[in-house]
Amino acid sequence: MWYRAKFLYNGEVTEGCINAFNEVVEVRKECRPDIDLSKEGLLVPASIDFHVHLRDWGLKHKETVATGTSEAVYGGVGMVVDMPNTSPPVRDYKTAVERLTLLDQFSRADFSVFAGVPDSREEAEKILKLPVAGFKVFPEDLERVEVLEGLDTLIILHPEVPRANSSFRNLRAYWMELASVLMVKGRVHVTHSTGLETIRLAKSLGFTTDFTPHHFLVEGERDCLTKVNPPIRDETTRMGLLLAFYEADAIVSDHAPHSKEEKALPYELCPPGIAAVSFTTPFVYSMVFKGVLDMERAFDLLFRNASKILGIKYGEVREGYPANFVVIKDEDWRYSTRFSKATETPFDGFPLQAKVKWTIIRGKVAYDGEEVYPVKGLNPYAFPGERVR
Ligand code: DOR
Ligand code: ZN
Repeated sequence: MWYRAKFLYNGEVTEGCINAFNEVVEVRKECRPDIDLSKEGLLVPASIDFHVHLRDWGLKHKETVATGTSEAVYGGVGMVVDMPNTSPPVRDYKTAVERLTLLDQFSRADFSVFAGVPDSREEAEKILKLPVAGFKVFPEDLERVEVLEGLDTLIILHPEVPRANSSFRNLRAYWMELASVLMVKGRVHVTHSTGLETIRLAKSLGFTTDFTPHHFLVEGERDCLTKVNPPIRDETTRMGLLLAFYEADAIVSDHAPHSKEEKALPYELCPPGIAAVSFTTPFVYSMVFKGVLDMERAFDLLFRNASKILGIKYGEVREGYPANFVVIKDEDWRYSTRFSKATETPFDGFPLQAKVKWTIIRGKVAYDGEEVYPVKGLNPYAFPGERVR
């Protein structure tokens, strides 16, 4: 499939042609395109969101792989990594195989899986033979994280100590986040840091880091919609995250959908989670179009560093790279979700200046500004040529 588009090539905006068939086959100046995207906006690599809860299985009422990844491509995300707190949880070999199979059948974006911490070292080693991205460590797993010690794998940490789980909301304090970072060893990535100190502490230990838009933008935990773990912090801590745009490695959504009924429960009982996988990319490019963030830095946050952390070949408009792109346009609109089962987020109506017009996954149109299409995403870890580690 030949696309004509405007894109950045060797650091400059050029108009040209991309032949995309699973990967980028050829880039050249002229062609007779199958689809002409050159008037639609700027074509850039599709984002990676490596903190997404796709649910499905026993939690289909919250989200399915098809609805969650449809929302992802609508939001310019070309690769997701799924979290293991599913029902049943993904922390043994057999369930990991089933999870990868489910994603292979239904994911409309490229994908992989973080497994949960298994019961034994042997099981962890078995899981690592599968095309998984690594292991996710939740607060309750910190008590038995030795199972992973010394393994050649990525460990992604939810930074809160186990005690946070039993604390009242108002006692779920920031020190619990800092303390948890000191409890892990290895190739560690600290996800959804809610303050700059976490990012700086993690980096001083040689770890990589990410943050979410909600820990920066949402003005305090006011209700079930804004209830999330780790919690939204006080104003000073939140504003500290402004520097995370320059100091963190990546930005993720922590897309954590729950049903309307669950979110309508009394505040003490409603489950935590914000489901806005489609917000991150247009939000970051809005900052670029407003002139407050460098395009190169946006690329670092949205896909470049994630591809390095995950050890996959991804995120360039160049021969041999996966043909996953977004066409992004400088346009005013107000945010809302469109394909997720979670229809309410704290960002509804948020004014944005960048809109995803098209999403291409593996050379095929996955979203055309109106509809999403059942394009099949691939797991890069299943293809030796796409693994860098
Ligand atoms: O707010 C959260 N929701 N934090 C988590 O750690 C889990 C997530 C979920 O799965 O709902
Ligand atoms: Zn999460």
